Amino acid sequence: MISMMKIPLFKPYLGKEELSGLAKVFKSAWVGMGPRTVEFEKRFAEFVGTKEAVGVTSCTAALHIAIQGLGIRSGEVIVPPITHAATASAVMFNGATPVFADVEEDTLCIAPQDIEKKITKRTKAIIAVHLGGHACDMDKILKIARKYKLFVIEDCANATGTLYKGKMAGSLGDAGCFSFEAKKNMTTGDGGMVTTNDSKLAERLRRLRFYGTNLDTWRRFQGQAHYSWRYDIAELGWKYNMNDIQAAIGLAQFKKLPWMLAQKDKLRKMYNKELLGISWLKIPREKPYTKTGWWLYIVQVRERDKFIDFMASRGITTGVHFEPIYHHSYLKKAGVKPVTPVAERVWRHIVSLPYFPTMTKKEFRYVVDTIKKFKP
Ligand SMILES: Cc1ncc(COP(=O)(O)O)c(C=O)c1O
Repeated sequence: MISMMKIPLFKPYLGKEELSGLAKVFKSAWVGMGPRTVEFEKRFAEFVGTKEAVGVTSCTAALHIAIQGLGIRSGEVIVPPITHAATASAVMFNGATPVFADVEEDTLCIAPQDIEKKITKRTKAIIAVHLGGHACDMDKILKIARKYKLFVIEDCANATGTLYKGKMAGSLGDAGCFSFEAKKNMTTGDGGMVTTNDSKLAERLRRLRFYGTNLDTWRRFQGQAHYSWRYDIAELGWKYNMNDIQAAIGLAQFKKLPWMLAQKDKLRKMYNKELLGISWLKIPREKPYTKTGWWLYIVQVRERDKFIDFMASRGITTGVHFEPIYHHSYLKKAGVKPVTPVAERVWRHIVSLPYFPTMTKKEFRYVVDTIKKFKP
């Protein structure tokens, strides 16, 4: 008899590289936003292939200021229901209303044909969430956006490293919003980034993330004999800046990212091979335009909740990404009226399996063997 293992859903890959980056920051005595943040932003922009990257505290903050920076303070923004609540909350922070377009049954990403149905005179933007690291059908989404003169914001919280037709997620729309929260493809504990090719927008985002001034403490310090206390707050801003502690972790994680993504690609193929052909389980569908950058391995199963309990009773953590967010009472209270039958049907079957770069063959085998013992 195999003894019970404990398998988490996610596990960050952190170690001496991050510690050594942190040691340098501690020694420098500059732990706020400074040279490490600037370096991380530069590397991240190069990686995504955008002119600019602006480091922030989370993807929630990234979405908040990206929407604000694009000048959206009212109207409607089209979002998918199968996403994190932050996608819709950021719209509401800006005084706009989230309007839900349905998802594609197979990829769980926002369905372009339903976006077009949900457009009204009040629509200002579309948020394309690359769910679990699967890219949205961006050519179709961008075509709709051009036709109706809408902004496209990519929610790349799940998609650091995702390629759409060879281009990085986060380089396709007006702005890309990333998450480096604890469980993501790479982590800084908590953190986020906005990527864009619009330098004017980036300049505004730099103000919005730091009280409303673009002369942040590091810029006031740099190149001066003495730190200058003088600055102007040009507009009402937030305190959303990344700091050098987060950036030092981010820079170390960034070096490991290719390996981490390759490991997840490998695991994905292994899962696909093992789970294909189980009558009560659907493996995730991958459209040919999307490659790598996988955050989640989402399967669809019959008797989902029974399956989750079965796995938990054998020490295996699973997750649901995500229940349609309009089920949350804050959105019900806001009076949103979603018509998204596919999301409503499909979410009852989705479950995310343990999926992290350092997953061992033994752990993988245990998960797969346990799945195969389940009787729906
Ligand atoms: C699709 C999506 N958007 C936004 C967020 C929010 O990210 P953060 O925790 O960095 O604010 C998440 C978090 O999981 C997410 O999955």
